[in-house]
Amino acid sequence: MDRKWWKEAVAYQIYVRSFKDSNGDGIGDLRGIIEKLDYLKKLGIDIIYLNPINKSPNDDNGYDISDFKDIMDDFGNMQDFDDLLRETHIRDMKLVMDLVINHSSDEHPWFTEAKKSKQSKYRDYYIWKKGEAGTPPNNWGSFFGGSAWEYHEDTDEYYLHLFSKKQPDLNWENNDFREDIKRVIKFWIDKGVDGFRMDAINHIAKDDEFKDGKVHEGKIYGDFLPYVQNLPKVHEYIRDIRKEINNPEIVLIGETGGISYHNAYLYTGADKKELDFTFHFDMHSVGRGEKDWERTPLNLIKDIKEKMSGWQTRDDKEGWCPLFYSNHDTTRTVSRLGNDEDYLEESAKMLATLMFTQKGTPFIYYGEEIGMTNNKGFELEDYRDVAIFNNYKDYVESGLISEENFMKGLQYTSRDNSRTPMQWNDNINGGFTKGKPWIKANQNYTKINVKEQEKNPTSILNYYKKAIDIRKKYQSLVYGEFTEINREHEEIYAYLRELETEKLLIVVNFFDNTPQIKIEKEIDLEKSELILSNYDTDKIKNKLNVLELRPYEARIYLIK
Ligand code: GLC
Ligand code: CA
Repeated sequence: MDRKWWKEAVAYQIYVRSFKDSNGDGIGDLRGIIEKLDYLKKLGIDIIYLNPINKSPNDDNGYDISDFKDIMDDFGNMQDFDDLLRETHIRDMKLVMDLVINHSSDEHPWFTEAKKSKQSKYRDYYIWKKGEAGTPPNNWGSFFGGSAWEYHEDTDEYYLHLFSKKQPDLNWENNDFREDIKRVIKFWIDKGVDGFRMDAINHIAKDDEFKDGKVHEGKIYGDFLPYVQNLPKVHEYIRDIRKEINNPEIVLIGETGGISYHNAYLYTGADKKELDFTFHFDMHSVGRGEKDWERTPLNLIKDIKEKMSGWQTRDDKEGWCPLFYSNHDTTRTVSRLGNDEDYLEESAKMLATLMFTQKGTPFIYYGEEIGMTNNKGFELEDYRDVAIFNNYKDYVESGLISEENFMKGLQYTSRDNSRTPMQWNDNINGGFTKGKPWIKANQNYTKINVKEQEKNPTSILNYYKKAIDIRKKYQSLVYGEFTEINREHEEIYAYLRELETEKLLIVVNFFDNTPQIKIEKEIDLEKSELILSNYDTDKIKNKLNVLELRPYEARIYLIK
């Protein structure tokens, strides 16, 4: 058993812009987080992970950094950061920062210098290519719509941007750049941060032939993924960073698209000396149809069990994993995987039960602990994500997708669903700000908010607290063996966690009906103790080890 602080911890992701505004400008900030540290501590949080807080013109909400060693004006200043870090550590919590080093902002001095002349020392910090007869160097389309190349007239070359055109990709082939980035990392470690979430890290190496990509059906641009994702050189670069950090207590978490439980060991294997674990995209598109505006019913075996259990049953040598179903790049968990209309409470608690009883580090995405949902009734002008407006041009203005389908698609898939203000109470805008919020609040704050749930012993929030307590009390939930029961069951997900003599049974129902499951496995349920459930369970009979679960019911038994 290879014990590590970050394996035993419960993490909380804060989208800073939307968490708590301390000065009424409508934007969440570092002082706002400081105000809420006691709330997080009381919830049982050990790690706070912050989305980017560096200086940025905010084309992509901080994922476009113009000074890696400074703080974004909207969020405060370095004093605020130092205070936040100190106050976090005083409460015995850790702080993990986002490290966005696949690209910078086009307003970063490196890029403004690079643009001045082909002779600039910084020219080669970015990726420039000649076009052909007025067209870009190849047909790649960016993640955020439009071409992945932007023309720069003065020097008559194009620069590469996998994301928005205000996020030029950095050139990891350049040694001076790599040394500069290592100094950035060292700067934050010297301040005392406890780890990094390395943004888009599997894209930092690019194939140097820059061949056209395949144009898939219904698409305008070529697919660049084979040329810019998970290339062998990425590993060399990450190992170099790990070596430079030279401190096993610093946790390194990657964000790696295209990586699943089958191949994550490429980054996290014990022999690799690269990352501790990686965020994947397994749960992002569950329930999505072929088209953004279509939904498909949940297939428990294929969408949930196979993926989640896949991560659980890897050999320990392959590395650790995070437990999370949402972040700032997807939609709200309870709206995607649960039922936010008829069974909001039950399904939010059911999903929490899974998150705190599997092997990995749980990451609560802000607001999930009160069951925050996707938006309903957002108009185009209510959205803020840069990707939306590029896609609108590519698809709606060109006539490829109807306005109606596009808007419906946003409701099911837009990242802005997960970026609305934290709902603290039932005051205007959920108590997030005294001003006008940078993005419209989800209007259900009158019903779904922290203040209300703190008072109610059976609220989602209080269920999270109980589940976290259980997570911390039973080590089998962290380090124990995972054994799935009855994979073929189409409605119920059930498994055992076991460490030495401690044994827990977890059973959850993913649907709004009342399925039964027979628990064999030499367990006597009559003698077992029910330690957590999202229903008042008195009335349920467990005859002959057959459990009948109510809609979205979840239970944890201590087996005796
Ligand atoms: C990652 C981030 C996402 C951002 C992108 C570009 O995928 O999670 O929010 O837009 O990288 O930095
Ligand atoms: Ca503010």
